[in-house]
Amino acid sequence: LKILFVSPEVEPFVKVGGLADMVGSLPKDLAAMGHDVRVVCPAYGSLKLSDDWSARNEPLGVDVGAAAHWGRTWVSHLPGSTVPIYCLEHEHLFGRPEVYAGPWGDHPDNDLRFIFLCRGALTLCQQLDWIPDVVHCHDWTTGFLPLLLNTTLKNTPLGRTASVFTIHNLEHQGYCDRRALDFAHVPVNEFRADSTESHGKINMMKAGLYHATKITTVSPTYAEEIKQPAGGFGLDPVLRFRAADLMGIVNGIDTTSWNPAADPNIPSSYTAQNFGGKTVCKAALQKQLGLDIDPHIALYGVVSRFATQKGLDLLAEALPHIVGRMHVQFAILGSGDQGLEAVYRDCAAKFPGRVGLHVGFNAKLARLIQAGSDFFVMPSRAEPCGLTQLYAMRYGTPPIVRATGGLVDTVDQFDETTGAGTGFKFEDASAPALYNTIGWANATYYDRPDQYRQLRRQGMARDFSWGASARRYVDTYRWAIKSRRGE
Ligand code: ADP
Ligand code: GLC
Repeated sequence: LKILFVSPEVEPFVKVGGLADMVGSLPKDLAAMGHDVRVVCPAYGSLKLSDDWSARNEPLGVDVGAAAHWGRTWVSHLPGSTVPIYCLEHEHLFGRPEVYAGPWGDHPDNDLRFIFLCRGALTLCQQLDWIPDVVHCHDWTTGFLPLLLNTTLKNTPLGRTASVFTIHNLEHQGYCDRRALDFAHVPVNEFRADSTESHGKINMMKAGLYHATKITTVSPTYAEEIKQPAGGFGLDPVLRFRAADLMGIVNGIDTTSWNPAADPNIPSSYTAQNFGGKTVCKAALQKQLGLDIDPHIALYGVVSRFATQKGLDLLAEALPHIVGRMHVQFAILGSGDQGLEAVYRDCAAKFPGRVGLHVGFNAKLARLIQAGSDFFVMPSRAEPCGLTQLYAMRYGTPPIVRATGGLVDTVDQFDETTGAGTGFKFEDASAPALYNTIGWANATYYDRPDQYRQLRRQGMARDFSWGASARRYVDTYRWAIKSRRGE
């Protein structure tokens, strides 16, 4: 199959969250299965154009709004693969460093920016004379792409191209003014509640959900949650309407890159048979974050956007009580909500040597936390899939998670009678529930060390590679292509 990925983020080039990890890894597995896969994203100002990149000779003319913009297309490959990645240049729209939001919140021209991405990706296909069988779109920024295929481009060769739209996070929907239809060259009669309109505005996510040939989301449990009013962020009626075309496919991870036996980013490698290296990582982590160096104390890691979606407000509330009463350390990495940042800074100042904090985005430290911690804490209020708990299990660090979305599907509850399981789950989105579960994990660590070691090994033995999920995507692409072509 010819498969085009269009995405606002691609690991390792530009990343805000797990969407980047998914788009940076699934295409490689699909290519290894023999498919012709290509990836398109914007050329952000933060993109480092090393020697691995070259500009195509032919400039790309993309007509968003009145005039065509002519820009360069930068080409490279996803690392360690032959999958081409094309980055579309438009310095006025993408020269600034951030993906979605600047110092004053969401970029006010996000409609223009991401319509440029959608139209640009499809224009590039025509320029390359490479018409994909299916375009795989990701979240609201690409919501206009299925709409374009169904309207403006319907009577072109791209009119036969199917679309699969993946919901990574329904919370962000891309509301904008109806001028977006003009920018996109989409007929104004698409400003309807059963196409693009929500509350008198354009909702780009909704456009994708109505117009995509098939819809996926990143775990089976989340696929159910978003059909209910409590989890649908206002779009649950649309998802119920499209329920027959919606499926949940749990994310895989790049097991080559995320491998504790061969990760150049951590100070010592280790395996489930020999955890010696993990102790080295723990000491390095304690040193880097100013924690007391102690191989015996239970060390809890956090790598997260600081957001209520991630339950980091619950952890902020529980943390002083946990650290005040239990023999634990915390290593915390993240950034986001300013109020939460301040609370964590206060907590780190109050418990020196016990709470280590790094505010910012740091890919290497993220891996050291996964490797050096004894547990990984993820109290999400909502979690479409979640990747950090998968990385944690792969690195022998049992996760403590709230039972929501993909965390339900990927973490098996520890059973202290049989010793089965891979982590600890709690139901209530509350600080006491988190406190109590960390108490349980801590007791297991100190009182039942054999069971704790077994738990780590069981997590490491799980297969989180793309394998089965990549095959399910291929089935979904074929299903979409068939229905697009009316076969
Ligand atoms: P989400 O996409 O909702 O943020 P995921 O668990 O799917 O959650 O993916 C988060 C990804 O971003 C992981 O690869 C994680 O390691 C990474 N990440 C999150 N915060 C940071 C940070 N502050 N520094 C480095 N990596 C981070
Ligand atoms: C989103 C979700 C996260 C998911 C990721 C990749 O950012 O919040 O749960 O793992 O996308 O699909």
